[in-house]
Amino acid sequence: MTLIDRSFKEKIILVGVAFSSSQLGEVEDSLDELALLVDTAGAEVVDRVIQRRTEPDPATYVGKGKAEELHSLSETLDVDTVVFDDELSPAQQRNLEKILGRTAIDRTAVILDIFAQNASSMEGKTQVELALLTYRLPRLRGRGKSLSQQVGRIGTRGPGETKLEEDRRRLLARISKLKADLKELSNTRKVQRKARIKSRVASVSLVGYTNSGKSTLLNSLTDADAFVANKLFATLDPRTRRLDLPGGEAILCSDTVGFVKKLPHQLVEAFRSTLEVVAESDLLCHVVDASGTDIEGRIQAVHTVLGEIDAGKVDEILVFNKIDLIDESDLAALKMKYPDSVYVSALERRGLDDILENIASGLRAMAGVVELLVPYDRGDVVAKLHREGEVIFQRESEDGFRLKARLEGASLALFREYQVSPNL
Ligand code: GTP
Repeated sequence: MTLIDRSFKEKIILVGVAFSSSQLGEVEDSLDELALLVDTAGAEVVDRVIQRRTEPDPATYVGKGKAEELHSLSETLDVDTVVFDDELSPAQQRNLEKILGRTAIDRTAVILDIFAQNASSMEGKTQVELALLTYRLPRLRGRGKSLSQQVGRIGTRGPGETKLEEDRRRLLARISKLKADLKELSNTRKVQRKARIKSRVASVSLVGYTNSGKSTLLNSLTDADAFVANKLFATLDPRTRRLDLPGGEAILCSDTVGFVKKLPHQLVEAFRSTLEVVAESDLLCHVVDASGTDIEGRIQAVHTVLGEIDAGKVDEILVFNKIDLIDESDLAALKMKYPDSVYVSALERRGLDDILENIASGLRAMAGVVELLVPYDRGDVVAKLHREGEVIFQRESEDGFRLKARLEGASLALFREYQVSPNL
């Protein structure tokens, strides 16, 4: 079920397009990251090409001439696959494969591929397969690694119309099956969530760009042995551990999948239920690699995904990790720019007390935030909640609207009957 062949080390050329000269640096950074992604997928980058043009070519993404150049470069370097940094339309992919005479894939495919390799839990695997199939569906006609060639090994004969139809039907049936499985799995999660609400334990999620050190931090904070690897997306399933705060209070702390720029939409969709744990957290620890490049862009990329999974309003503590890798002046500059943040080295266990104290005070600031369950026929109550307080979270559940809102004393009394958990 992968898009990159792992039976040998594929040779790969990376291709980026800069739509203005000011974009060049950005494209270089993006290709650095793509190179890391390709490496994580087990292939080898042998060259990279950047084209400057004002807009993508609707037929071939890069210009036709550039595509021809890429073809001869691929021949010279004996390249297996060409990877484009932006998402290609199914038609662009097909046309490029014709010109290049080899597989053309995009960043989305690489990320999906890595996720497919790394998912370990039942739910993670199901979600990734769903994302992969959703990506493949409109590309079924494509040559190269089409479904019929991968699964059916039909040989050299191209898939005929009937075969395509059959593939399509099979794929659609599999997609519905996966969706049904996921629904069942999310019911289990609901039971766990109910138990958590009942036990009134506060929860904190570690979020952040991939490889920022979330798993290492969870290990250091809780002495758990969450999987740590210097690979992108080592963590694909949320892990939850108990964490003791300085005052003796126990909370739950979850590690989550790492984010990345241009995270494929199919994946965000697929991981929505896993990532519910983030939206429902009382507080987020947003882990940032202090030694990484483009810190601001990465923070922004994480915020974008948080917004997409309805977690944009949950309070966050910015935790700059890996300070052992930067010098004093860079650290001072960061502190100047992000004064209310925490600076740690999860590996050297430096600054961990600061995190715990910040979590404790962050949670104290949540006093006034209550969880409510409002029946579906009381839309008026929901509207009133939006007027009277700040709604941090809202979702439809089996029993009604589930909400988290910050309410002042007097307003709080108005909604008492819908409250399911007390102030934290
Ligand atoms: P994903 O699962 O990809 O989201 O990664 P993650 O954010 O969970 O990162 P992980 O904890 O797997 O760490 C990534 C790499 O950074 C590993 O090689 C860690 O050893 C390294 N690392 C984590 N924290 C530190 C730190 O404080 N200092 C240094 N020098 N390296 C660290």
